[in-house]
Amino acid sequence: MESSNWSKDSWKSFPAMQQVDWPNKEKHQDVLRQIAALPPLVFAGEIRKLRTMLASAAEGKAFLLQGGDCAEEFRECTAPTIRETMKVILQMSVILTFAGEKPVIKMGRIAGQYAKPRSSPTETRDGVVLPSFRGDMVNSSNFSVESRTPDSKRLLDGYFHASSSLNILRAFTRGGYASLEKVHAWNKEFVRQSKEGKSYEELATQIEKALTFMKVIGIEQQLSPQINEVDFYTSHEALLLGYEEALTRQDSLTGIWYDCSAHLLWIGDRTRQVDGAHVEFLRGIHNPIGIKIGPDHDLDEVRRLLDILNPDNETGRIVLITRFGKVKINDMLPPLVRSVQEHGGNVLWSCDPMHGNTYTSDSNYKTRSVSDILQEIRSYFEIHKAEGSIPGGIHFELTGKDVTECTGGAQEIMDHHLENNYSTSCDPRLNAQQSLELAFLISDLLKG
Ligand code: PEP
Ligand code: CO
Repeated sequence: MESSNWSKDSWKSFPAMQQVDWPNKEKHQDVLRQIAALPPLVFAGEIRKLRTMLASAAEGKAFLLQGGDCAEEFRECTAPTIRETMKVILQMSVILTFAGEKPVIKMGRIAGQYAKPRSSPTETRDGVVLPSFRGDMVNSSNFSVESRTPDSKRLLDGYFHASSSLNILRAFTRGGYASLEKVHAWNKEFVRQSKEGKSYEELATQIEKALTFMKVIGIEQQLSPQINEVDFYTSHEALLLGYEEALTRQDSLTGIWYDCSAHLLWIGDRTRQVDGAHVEFLRGIHNPIGIKIGPDHDLDEVRRLLDILNPDNETGRIVLITRFGKVKINDMLPPLVRSVQEHGGNVLWSCDPMHGNTYTSDSNYKTRSVSDILQEIRSYFEIHKAEGSIPGGIHFELTGKDVTECTGGAQEIMDHHLENNYSTSCDPRLNAQQSLELAFLISDLLKG
């Protein structure tokens, strides 16, 4: 179990991409010491349960639904925002559970998704060059020297915002708010209100019948934890290694190391170098690990990543999240699947149909279209079917709010509507309606 030559700070001897040049090193160390003394955010037992569920998804017996903001914002750490994001994920999961006839693992990009890798270290506006926004845990998105200067205190703020978010998530998922009946009532409302409602009515009616059946045979919904409570998992990109190290704790029962900042950590497309600090850090913690794979990858490098991060080839440890875009997926996913299969790598395949489909609209907004996203999802299902592998998960950037950041969907959001409510501080998210529509469309693919 012990990874050789690993310690929670061994990453420091490896080159780390996308790290922050903190202006006050002493203050930075002091903040990390404070975080290291604070309680863990999630617990080893929960992480172990998730790994078991992910193993089941890798074998086709469950499905992973992961979604949330590209970058969470501190000022959006409110009960309504968190509730609405959780609500849309739960609604999608009921649709997918029913269609796919298997449990859906519900996971937010939430309670810690506060740090972003950037393609450029600086941003230029009207000739003024400032450091890029790197997430609320580093600097502020406002365009001024002061706002963009990294501040270590933000790491501590990140911890406390994650902690508040988790607290309300735990209350919602245990307090009956997330009961199957409630979620179904929300879905019925969506079907009633949505333009394309008719096509979803049949599925909604079938779910209704299943619920009525359970009631008739005497399953008391309020008393039944399977119906009244849900497990909701958290995840974020493990980018700022000092922060992740500070939350890495040894489980008192087993002696195993877990990064207790979230249940699942993923490694980004820009930070997954086999000889880099992020891979070194992640190889020693026993959380499940997501690996983003974009078009710029090397098959041999991916196999080496699997060997390093999952030396015992355990199912449930690795989620390979491909994000190629609607065109490139056709050329890139089949060889990747074959290569991993030939290598014998046990992975859970997931698809992020967001990051390969971003473009700048004529109105100069960074956007994505629902039809492009759907096209990549369709190809994802088709390709895995053809290769004999299992499409076991999906990864979205979404919000429960009524934003106008992605084009298309039944609301027919056009380029010129983007300005109406474009509020993301990073990438464009699907709004609640677009997310639900996609869930209904994916439910057909799951059935197929
Ligand atoms: C993200 O998930 O927001 C992200 C930056 O993804 P990637 O590393 O795949 O570009
Ligand atoms: Co993003």
